[in-house]
Amino acid sequence: MKVLVTGGAGYIGSHTVVELIKAGHQAVILDNLSNSEAFIIDRINELTGRSTPFYQKDFANKAKISQLLKKEQIEGIIHFAAFKQVGESVTKPLKYYRNNVGGLISLLEAISDSNIKYFVFSSSCTVYGEPDSLPVTEDSPVKPATSPYGASKQMDEVILKDFSAASSKLSALALRYFNPIGAHPSARIGELPIGTPANLVPFITQTAAGIREKLIVYGNDYPTEDGTCIRDYIHVVDLARAHVKAIDFLSGRQAGQFDFFNIGTGKGSSVVEVINTFEQVTGVKLNYVFGPRREGDIISTYAAVDKANKMLNWKADKSLEEALLDAWNWQQTLAKK
Ligand code: NAD
Ligand code: WQD
Repeated sequence: MKVLVTGGAGYIGSHTVVELIKAGHQAVILDNLSNSEAFIIDRINELTGRSTPFYQKDFANKAKISQLLKKEQIEGIIHFAAFKQVGESVTKPLKYYRNNVGGLISLLEAISDSNIKYFVFSSSCTVYGEPDSLPVTEDSPVKPATSPYGASKQMDEVILKDFSAASSKLSALALRYFNPIGAHPSARIGELPIGTPANLVPFITQTAAGIREKLIVYGNDYPTEDGTCIRDYIHVVDLARAHVKAIDFLSGRQAGQFDFFNIGTGKGSSVVEVINTFEQVTGVKLNYVFGPRREGDIISTYAAVDKANKMLNWKADKSLEEALLDAWNWQQTLAKK
């Protein structure tokens, strides 16, 4: 299938382009490089041994997108492009609603007069908030969002559901990612955090590399075994493979349908476990201290992945150890870039 990957120069998008091509699909990348750099496209081409078409454009530009869809004869879209910084979304909500919600509407309008049949959307476990029970299944309620970023993902799912239901051509699905970490095992592509990372693993690797003085563990008085929060950390390559399975799944579906899937490992790890595992696999001692809780943090969340196992024929294969080692190898090559 020929797939347009919006945000294909980004962290998860770049790994997905590599996996799509590996699986025999064709990809076209669209990214305005607002949160990536052109060298990532060169690295994707190096890893895949082919030259994937790249358009440096805004996905909300309806006229340009309509043209591109026809010119490239696109059949499916994987839509990663969005802003993703939770903290920034609180101070600049309109920036997030404009890009993540307004942009999606424009993109779907551009699709309306095309032959696009398949649409995969990047959603997030953030839609569940603090879950009532664990592991979190897809039947768990969507809780009121605690940030404009979270709200934008919830709104996008509703928009996609309604758009699919009204369509005689298209079926769509949302993948609710848990916590993506790690990098390609080649260390040629990975995450490019801008400024001080808010996420745990890039903060760990930057601290280990001496870019940050110390990691502050946000709270060790939570009602968990070691007092720190629990998350489901999934290797970005496993996550990328889930998108290939999603495209395969959609190609067997009738038009007009919408569904959503948790994408995680099914296993929860505490912040202290992540730190200890990082130290074990890399042999690097991490400078960290326990600090106060971070406002808005969920105590504990990890995915039930039976639905994705069964319906997408997908499961995560890689361990936390591999993910942290790959994140560290990527961090070290970044320093030399
Ligand atoms: P990323 O920032 O690395 O990638 C997004 C890419 O989209 C960037 O390359 C950016 O330049 C591009 N982009 C943004 N706005 C654009 C626009 N208007 N036009 C064209 N390109 C645009 O982020 P990521 O971590 O790869 O996340 C991808 C998707 O997954 C996002 O939708 C994000 O909300 C979602 N998600 C991410 C996480 C996570 O922890 N990384 C978790 C859950 C969901
Ligand atoms: C993980 C754990 C922190 C940094 C965020 C978004 C969510 C989703 C994934 C997109 C928590 C602790 C972190 C640090 C720490 N993104 N931590 N010190 O909070 O699960 O989710 O990314 O959809 O929407 O909110 O991920 O990596 O920020 O934190 O102790 O310097 O690490 O408190 O327990 P989170 P995270």
